Amino acid sequence: MNCSRCQQENPPHAKFCLGCGARLTAICTRCGADLPEGARFCSGCGQAVSTTAPSDPRHNRPEAFIPKHLAERILRAKSSLEGERKQVTVLFADLKGSMELIADRDPEDARQILDPVIERMLEAVHHYEGTVNNVMGDGVMALFGAPIAHEDHAVRACYAALRMQEQVGRYADDLRRRQGLDVQIRVGLNSGEVVVCSIGTDLHVDYTAVGQTTHLAARMEQLARPGTTLLTEFVLRSAEERIAVKGLGLVPIKGLADPVPVYEIVGPGAARTRLQAAVARGLTRFVGRDAEVERLRQALEQAVRGQGQVVAVFGEPGVGKSRLFYEFLHSHRTQGWLVLESSSVSYGKATAYMPLLSLLRAYFGISERDDTRTIRAKVTGYVLTLDEALKDGIPALLHLLDALPEEHEFHRANSVARRSSTIEWLKRILLRESRNQPVLLVFEDLHWIDGETQALLDALVDSLPAAAILLAVNYRPEYRHAWTNKSYYQQLQIHALGPETAAAMLQPILGDDPALDPVRRLVIERTEGNPLFLEESVRSLVETGVLIGERGAYRLGKDPVGIQVPSTVQAIIASRIDGLQPQDKQLLQAASVIGKDVPQVLLSEIAECSEDELRSGLGRLQAAEFVYELKLFPDLEYTFKHALTHEVAYGSLLHDRRRALHAQIVGAIERIHTDRLPEHFRNLTHHAFRGEIWSKALHYLNQTASSAERRSIDAVLGGPESPGNLWWRGLHERAVALTQREQAILASFRNFGGSITANFRLGQSCHSLGEYARAADVLSRNIALLEEDLQRELFGFAGFPSVLSRVWLALCEVEQNRIGEAVRHSGEAVEIADSAEHSFSQVVALAGQGTIFLLVGDMDAAMPSLERALAIDRVSDVPLLLPLIAPPLGLAYVRAGRHEEGLDLIAQGVERAEILEFAANHARRLTWLGEARLLSGQSDVAKRVALRALEMARRYGERGHEAYALSLLGDVMARGHPPDREGAATAYRDALTLAELLGMRRLSAALFGALQT
Ligand SMILES: Nc1ncnc2c1ncn2[C@@H]1O[C@H](COP(=O)(O)OP(=O)(O)OP(=O)(O)O)[C@@H](O)[C@H]1O
Ligand SMILES: [Mg+2]
Repeated sequence: MNCSRCQQENPPHAKFCLGCGARLTAICTRCGADLPEGARFCSGCGQAVSTTAPSDPRHNRPEAFIPKHLAERILRAKSSLEGERKQVTVLFADLKGSMELIADRDPEDARQILDPVIERMLEAVHHYEGTVNNVMGDGVMALFGAPIAHEDHAVRACYAALRMQEQVGRYADDLRRRQGLDVQIRVGLNSGEVVVCSIGTDLHVDYTAVGQTTHLAARMEQLARPGTTLLTEFVLRSAEERIAVKGLGLVPIKGLADPVPVYEIVGPGAARTRLQAAVARGLTRFVGRDAEVERLRQALEQAVRGQGQVVAVFGEPGVGKSRLFYEFLHSHRTQGWLVLESSSVSYGKATAYMPLLSLLRAYFGISERDDTRTIRAKVTGYVLTLDEALKDGIPALLHLLDALPEEHEFHRANSVARRSSTIEWLKRILLRESRNQPVLLVFEDLHWIDGETQALLDALVDSLPAAAILLAVNYRPEYRHAWTNKSYYQQLQIHALGPETAAAMLQPILGDDPALDPVRRLVIERTEGNPLFLEESVRSLVETGVLIGERGAYRLGKDPVGIQVPSTVQAIIASRIDGLQPQDKQLLQAASVIGKDVPQVLLSEIAECSEDELRSGLGRLQAAEFVYELKLFPDLEYTFKHALTHEVAYGSLLHDRRRALHAQIVGAIERIHTDRLPEHFRNLTHHAFRGEIWSKALHYLNQTASSAERRSIDAVLGGPESPGNLWWRGLHERAVALTQREQAILASFRNFGGSITANFRLGQSCHSLGEYARAADVLSRNIALLEEDLQRELFGFAGFPSVLSRVWLALCEVEQNRIGEAVRHSGEAVEIADSAEHSFSQVVALAGQGTIFLLVGDMDAAMPSLERALAIDRVSDVPLLLPLIAPPLGLAYVRAGRHEEGLDLIAQGVERAEILEFAANHARRLTWLGEARLLSGQSDVAKRVALRALEMARRYGERGHEAYALSLLGDVMARGHPPDREGAATAYRDALTLAELLGMRRLSAALFGALQT
């Protein structure tokens, strides 16, 4: 049964939804009795059930209530939004006690009470451009940030909650007066991720919540007292300072192990913009920008002499446009100036004159609390003092401020006339003001400007040359205006900070600890000097415990394992990408699959558009500063302006689409560079892996084996004389002797980590030697020692010893025919590695799991594990793992009838191992190759391979593998033309002797069978 509120699927007889906790079964509106599914009348009082949850049918058609401009954008971009991961804030709102409220009422009457509440909820959501995902009889669920990304989704959701409470509050006052009814709503918010699955033509969005995203939002709503809004720390983190909250402490939540901090919204915060919020939190030291400040100063000087100026500052988000203005406005230079500031807001495009209103309020000294009469008095008084000749402009101003008496004739003018008169008077007043004192007009974030404010600016710019006005504006690169050709216009592009300036900015935040140098470098490199990204990255490093201690004196808590894109930055970039035309967004995404650098020839091969469209699309992406031309010769090449943009664009693509594009790129490179293929092997390897064309991937990888890889192997295994390295080279006896010696020494030092790793190496070597019982014993001990947090400790290894020990234990258990345990241990290994998202451990665990499934004959289970192992991003960077994956996967393919592909893959895996001089267990890989050849009818080759396997196994003392090689030899002889029954029986018997000796119960049983036929 699907929950009608959050769409979560629930088991058949569930009473409450697993996803949002909403009641799934109906309740009788008259007597409150629980009603079984499908009931038509209440068993308690006989009330007809069809009336239990009255709701306006309109509400369940999203297209009926999503504002037109938003609906159009969603539908236009529909295909490019589906399947994307989005950062969102989820809002749940409901009417507390609605059942009691409408009990005993006629359904029509009940609806007359409920519908206005729902309508106010919907209005508030839409005001902030959220999308209502579901409407219940007495509540709504809405998303901010999906399907179209919004960089400030959390702030929008909070403001929507405030607006909802306020509007419903007003309605409730009225209801209380008229009907004595008490109506209150409760609202809950949480931020997190969702995946947008599909968007219906009626705009209904199907999505999957990631983790606790919706669950927590629903819980917040249920916890809220009527009339209040609760939110989680995840919302607060992004909306800090822009809302005022009261902490309610840690609250236990059903379904979560630990209590979570909960907050209640008490009102809007003092800060309206992101920079104001940063000011409230404490700004970082202002660095660089001397040249920009100087340009502003010069413009100011010219303007004060009566030669009005326009300065347009532009640059990408977070680069420091607002900060530059802030520093300039707070310097001594602007003393004696009337400074009027305003900024557009992201949700304000559809609201006329939004930025002007705040500017006018400041100009006339109007406060939030002023009533209409006071506003009228202030405006009239001010204007008349300024210049009586301006008095006819007063109605227009009052109209704008919503303070014009209703009967005034200005209301009756048509809207076009009203608009032009408003603009004209505003302009005249500002010009007149500048004769008294120079005016510095600041308009921020023009990329979100509404049409009316834009019209005023255009009009103003035309009259500037003779006024003491400096109009300073800023915007992101995607915004366009028509002032460029004015002689008094200049533009100032703000670039990211250079590495040294960025380091100077970080110094007072991070402090001087030299141990932080790698983190410093990493952060500067990744953010490429964008100040906002720098600040946010540091913040997430603190949150993830990489940096510990106090701001200004941080210490290293643990090694940074790469830096994830902070969610705030991710939301900013994602919303800019969603702001592109759908075809440009698709082009950007396709380009992101090619890489950070994008040769145009390649892009034109995979972009589904004509050359002309490609050129113009790239032009627009360049103009909006997503990409720029890297070089023109020999071939045109573009590059992503920012590595983070590249990552977000790539990350937003659906896995299938990504894979298909990578595969296409392999084909395209092969076509375009037929004669220079070796230069492209690295690239081909990368795309073939991501395109999941495994045999090609290995083929190209094998062409690029290098000494660097040898070094990377040493880094993983330890130096040439370490146990790991000895094992790798097949020198198992020496490895065993060495680990035993090491263990004795380590034990006397009580070196826990050292004995864990030595134990593992011992187990691994014993496994190769065929000493399965001993190996299992040693490895089990490791598992018992590594509990809880220690499971995710590397102890200097490349993968978690807890994972590696389980994998090798499972490999021993399967030989001993302890299938259940083998499956369980390899499954646990995958779980541990997955939960820590540690790629090296994941690859080894999945390879192990797949191999176990292969050995027990479950091909359907083996293939996905092994394929996933290959698909993990970093596998091509850790080439030594490939021989663990490709041969078993190849054999699984062959056994499933996919001969050609499978044979190729095993051969490549074997070749890879030989290139890397990986001798351990090579005999086993060869027996798989032999089996695959035999299954494909190539018994001659199979025989040669079996003999080689036998020779290898004996050379390195791998007795278990010797038994397998003998068994394979038996198979080859038994199926020869003609069959050599006697030879086969001899080989089987020799194999059986060994298998029994080593306790290989599974192989023994198979050999018995073979000898009997
Ligand atoms: N030169 C600088 N020195 C120190 N900190 C800076 C500098 N420039 C910007 N910052 C900090 O980086 C953050 C982002 O800057 P700011 O808000 O000015 O970006 P913006 O370009 O206005 O972005 P948006 O386009 O999103 O409005 C702020 O917290 C700001 O204090
Ligand atoms: Mg700004």
